[in-house]
Amino acid sequence: MLFHKSVRATSALFGFLFLLVTAAQAQTAKLPNVTILATGGTIAGTGATSTTTVGYTAATVGVQALIQAVPEMTKVANVTGEQVFQIASENMGNEHWLQLAKRVNVLLGQPNVDGIVITHGTDTLEETAYFLNLVVKSRKPVVLVGSMRPSTALSADGPINLYNAVNLAGSPAAVGKGVLVAMNDQIHAARDVTKANTTTADTFRAAELGMIGYIQGGKPYFYREVTRKHTVETEFDISRLDALPQVDVAYAYANVGAVAVNALVAAGAKGLVHAGVGNGSLPARTKPALVAAREKGVVIVRSSRVGQGIVARNGEANDDQLDFVVADTLSPQKARILLMLALTKTSNTKEIQRMFYTY
Ligand code: SIN
Repeated sequence: MLFHKSVRATSALFGFLFLLVTAAQAQTAKLPNVTILATGGTIAGTGATSTTTVGYTAATVGVQALIQAVPEMTKVANVTGEQVFQIASENMGNEHWLQLAKRVNVLLGQPNVDGIVITHGTDTLEETAYFLNLVVKSRKPVVLVGSMRPSTALSADGPINLYNAVNLAGSPAAVGKGVLVAMNDQIHAARDVTKANTTTADTFRAAELGMIGYIQGGKPYFYREVTRKHTVETEFDISRLDALPQVDVAYAYANVGAVAVNALVAAGAKGLVHAGVGNGSLPARTKPALVAAREKGVVIVRSSRVGQGIVARNGEANDDQLDFVVADTLSPQKARILLMLALTKTSNTKEIQRMFYTY
């Protein structure tokens, strides 16, 4: 009798536990699946003390430790992590971008991945974001995130930024918006955002064109549409590329000459972005070197070091006559990315100009 009672009690307990586990599984199954690809940077950095916010070591904490530091993420997404690289982002190279983009495309092609977060150093985060914006072949969200304070600092911004990024990457509202940057409770479009302060937490800005949304309480709120083509709408395919054409930037300043332009061409540049003054103006001592480079087949893009505004075609130089391309509103570092990708398709400057007005 006693034996029967205890068997009944045990099976009731097992039944209850089974229901609990099934309910928990059903709950987890409803959450989006977000993969975090870790590449290093300050978000994975450590300092000697909690007040060390400069002079720390970037890229030391692994992806599993980053995930464990933010257990709140498990309530909003099924999170998995991969360590793709462990570098400070000043060392990011074309080869890293190709490897990262290929991995992103493979993961997003899987039905069980709903979105991707890429943890990244902030110094070149905007460049990686724009590169991916042009070569990712999916409408699923890809969100780049970093931090300005290392993980060991007082008020480290990494955990909240990562929590926000995971929420954003798992949100249906972020589908089809191109590659996004989530920093400081703000959402930025890859094309327009730039790092604008050397050290403060509000460093990512898209000054005049503006951010596209906020993240509040883990929920994204969008206020603007991205109008330039991106991701599945672009003509770029890196799936079979092992390298990108050499493109460099020559920076203009008072008293600049032709040394940098000539050296870059001699070093094998297939394209040159000139970071001109003002409206992309060409200093008289640099212009002949650019003209000579173009005659050798190097594609020249006129951009501006100013940081805002359109570089007017046939404005400060006769681009039609010189056979130069203008960068539109792209910063020199982003114009370099688009020119590299353009050169994988064509060396026709009219076509390349079209691309600069499209992306
Ligand atoms: C880096 O870009 O890797 C270092 C700086 C940072 O992440 O803020």
